[in-house]
Amino acid sequence: MDLYIVANKEEISRLAYQVMLSKINESDNVTLGLATGSSPEGIYELFRANQPDVSHVTTVNLDEYIGIDESNDQSYAYFMNEHLFKHLDFKKNYLPNGMNSDPDAACREFEDIIAKNPIDLQLLGIGTNGHIAFNEPGSSFDSTTRVVELAKDTIVANSRFFDKMEDVPKTAITMGIKTIMSAGEILLIASGENKADAIKTMLEQDMNEQMPASVLQSHPNVIIIIDEAAASKIDPALLTQGGGCCDGGCCGGGGHHHDTEGCCGGGGHHHHDNEGCCGGH
Ligand code: F6R
Repeated sequence: MDLYIVANKEEISRLAYQVMLSKINESDNVTLGLATGSSPEGIYELFRANQPDVSHVTTVNLDEYIGIDESNDQSYAYFMNEHLFKHLDFKKNYLPNGMNSDPDAACREFEDIIAKNPIDLQLLGIGTNGHIAFNEPGSSFDSTTRVVELAKDTIVANSRFFDKMEDVPKTAITMGIKTIMSAGEILLIASGENKADAIKTMLEQDMNEQMPASVLQSHPNVIIIIDEAAASKIDPALLTQGGGCCDGGCCGGGGHHHDTEGCCGGGGHHHHDNEGCCGGH
């Protein structure tokens, strides 16, 4: 596990974009796993601004609500179209089909899509409770793509975007934890103090299903990029343990640092000042 602590959300986006761009440029047939939410917005903005060639890139998204289509601005398909898909020419973009009248069939279809397009790099955000995709605490580490009930507070929080309570989605399709873990590489990003507890627990607790993101401890190829606020509760001993991020900087967790490509790629130079990989530690 490679942990990079940077100054702020903008730096997270810059570094994460470079990691994704390196992966895109690694081969002529790439599958990226993508996420919605506020965390990746800055990364997608960089895709829009830089217009990299993605004609060989297939994308698969983590999750989608059941029962609202891509014209509804609350759907994840709408979010992805607005932020990314309508601005760049990808080979193919897949999301779970929340409009299939048989949602279980939609889940099987999505697993098939991923089996045919193994994920090279999966981008993840993390919930304040440690969820990844819609895999809430208690989700099995063996889970695959499936229908999940949304938590009551999620439904209530979402209700402000809908005219009637009946219209608020109560279920979603999510990639399972096992599906996510099948990715060749995983890139998790988080910013802000409200993520600090989840980040600490994910890194410091033994793996357990009450903290879904802790499963990443057993993945051989994980990059975590967070800002100082999200890192603020990590045990300092963990941060100095391994010695090196980016030429002797500060990343903890797994002890070894990523190479030029993964770390601050593109430009080929390492950031290890206060603005870069290892800000402040
Ligand atoms: C999004 C997703 C969620 C978010 C998580 C963090 O597709 O699956 O798990 O990654 O809820 O959300 P933000 O980034 O809005 O804090």
